[in-house]
Amino acid sequence: MELLKNIKYPLILAPMEGVTDLSFRLICRKLGADIVVTEFIASEALIRNIEKSHLKLKIDENERPVGIQIFGSKVSSMIESAKIVEDAGADFLDINYGCWVKKVVNNDAGASFMKDPDRMAEMTNAISNAVKIPVTVKTRLGFTRDKINILETSKKCEDAGAQMITIHCRTRDMGMSGNADWKWINEVKNQLTIPVILNGDVVEPEDTKRAFSETTCDGVMIGRAAISNPFIFRQSKELLLNGKLPSEPSARERINLCKDHLKLAIEIKGEKRGLTEFRKNYSGYFKGLYNGSKIRQRIFTIETLDNVNAELDDYLNFLEKYYSEYPEMIFHKEKFENTEKIECSL
Ligand SMILES: Cc1cc2nc3c(=O)[nH]c(=O)nc-3n(C[C@H](O)[C@H](O)[C@H](O)COP(=O)(O)O)c2cc1C
Repeated sequence: MELLKNIKYPLILAPMEGVTDLSFRLICRKLGADIVVTEFIASEALIRNIEKSHLKLKIDENERPVGIQIFGSKVSSMIESAKIVEDAGADFLDINYGCWVKKVVNNDAGASFMKDPDRMAEMTNAISNAVKIPVTVKTRLGFTRDKINILETSKKCEDAGAQMITIHCRTRDMGMSGNADWKWINEVKNQLTIPVILNGDVVEPEDTKRAFSETTCDGVMIGRAAISNPFIFRQSKELLLNGKLPSEPSARERINLCKDHLKLAIEIKGEKRGLTEFRKNYSGYFKGLYNGSKIRQRIFTIETLDNVNAELDDYLNFLEKYYSEYPEMIFHKEKFENTEKIECSL
């Protein structure tokens, strides 16, 4: 597929509801993600012009290539929303056949399609014929552990026109528990010609290297690890391309990027919503930094961007002073756990 052409070791930011908004996607692209995907958008909400869902369609030139993901159960609504996605300028459209949550599955959307591979093929075919942009699919190994049917569903999706498939290597009944089973990737690859993207349990940069060496995947999609460490894309690329041990970003880079990300989020969502929704992102920037969780708690109570920025500036000043006095403390996790006794003025 054109999207992956000329990309060495493609790394894709996973679609994540409430997480992969425009600001987060822009930051992940800046940090080395090759491709990004929006959070899923309900087709029924799109065709009913629900404002909140239409806001999720907003994309920025600087984040391309970007895919917009939709979910739904009715072919006619999905076709109509696929056209809306195309008009919104997406580089590709991703169909969600993997969402495991009850509300979605009970409405015959998301992972429920895995119960009926023909229905999956019919939907994929209808959407592929309705739009000119590439249509991709994201699914799981099967509905239940004793009914893994990824070999059948993936083949049907390819035959129906899907141009790339991402496999979250768990079954629907596993939800997010247990381990992702990557061994299916090679079996799927053996029978398909479209790119196959591995997803599930990539936690550290080393896992991306393992994914590319232990399987024949064409790319790796990263979800939760990007929240807890947005630098994982850059660190993984350093490892994959240069064999270098991933470097840790400095406190200055972390705090400055956190400020840039927050500014973007507020430009897009306004101050109140932007500040509230940003709460989940602080831990990714503060990870491994001395006193991070305490500062995070304090920031949660602050209601203006200016005051959050002032707090972040104070924190950075403190960190730089602290690390110049205790250089051995920089990102030494075990030692951090023993630092409680050290007085902290923040
Ligand atoms: C908070 C959250 C929201 C998610 N939302 C979506 C979604 O909108 N669409 C989707 O296909 N998968 C969604 N997922 C699943 C992820 O895309 C991914 O498949 C899963 O987290 C496994 O990958 P990981 O181990 O790298 O996190 C979500 C996961 C999380 C944690």
